[in-house]
Amino acid sequence: MQHLLGIDEIDAGAITAILDKAQDYADKLKQGEWDQTRLKGKIILHLFFEHSTRTLTSFEMAAKRLGADVINWNPETSSLTKGENFIDTIDTLTSMKPDAIVMRHAEFGAPKFVATRAKCPVINGGDSWREHPTQALLDALTMRQNFGKLEGLNVTIIGDIAHSRVASSNMQLLTKMGAHVSVVAPEILMPESLPFPQIKAYHTLEEGLPGADVVMTLRLQKERMDKALISDAAYFNEFGLTFERLEKFCPKAVIMDPGPLVRGVQMEDSVAEDPERSLILRQVANGIPTRMAVLDMLVGG
Ligand code: CP
Repeated sequence: MQHLLGIDEIDAGAITAILDKAQDYADKLKQGEWDQTRLKGKIILHLFFEHSTRTLTSFEMAAKRLGADVINWNPETSSLTKGENFIDTIDTLTSMKPDAIVMRHAEFGAPKFVATRAKCPVINGGDSWREHPTQALLDALTMRQNFGKLEGLNVTIIGDIAHSRVASSNMQLLTKMGAHVSVVAPEILMPESLPFPQIKAYHTLEEGLPGADVVMTLRLQKERMDKALISDAAYFNEFGLTFERLEKFCPKAVIMDPGPLVRGVQMEDSVAEDPERSLILRQVANGIPTRMAVLDMLVGG
């Protein structure tokens, strides 16, 4: 593996190898014993053209836990603001020869394009609605820790499936690993096609929730909509997770959300904070060992 640009480019064997290494790092972090010099002398360049809390911070922590140095380039203070174009910016930055680039961009396939020009590994930290591979990997790690496996799990993803890169990467990863994926969305937020024919699509919670082991919610990706396609109130009314709905349709399911979580739209507070059901903060914590594993495998060689 030279880059990590999308789950579409890796098979079940590669996914398992990353998850095994991520679990190894999770165990070592817990014990306080890991090779803190694994990436000593390496410089990781973060090119985040879109805002981030979880992905940017956890990539930085992962790199620093492995001894690498990190540069957080900021488009808002860069020479892009003076009229330099995207390609010249990328060529300028890659000619400085970083050891890896982690990139987030609103344009479809932007990290793939950068990988054709950079002489170092490129890791996709999320592009458009296409892919967010490390999010799907940390979600899978979280499910594997909770259930001991991915194969045969029933995972229901609720929300803005059409505009979500998390949904896109998760549908691919989970199906490749033998999980059964269902998606639930209002018609206006359901894509025209899904990546695999066995993924089931529903338009009500009543149809999509029964039998779920995992319920993953997604926010309305308003930044990728030309206009509001559904109001927050109408969305919560039909698709919001409530304690009552969970008790009725899937009382044993765990709840996941990649964040940012918009409370009162995706779910009510009591669900987000339910210590028995909610794995949301465990997902965030698993971002560190997952990204350590990816950086180790791509940059540590
Ligand atoms: N899940 C996720 O990508 O969150 P951030 O946008 O905060 O990185």
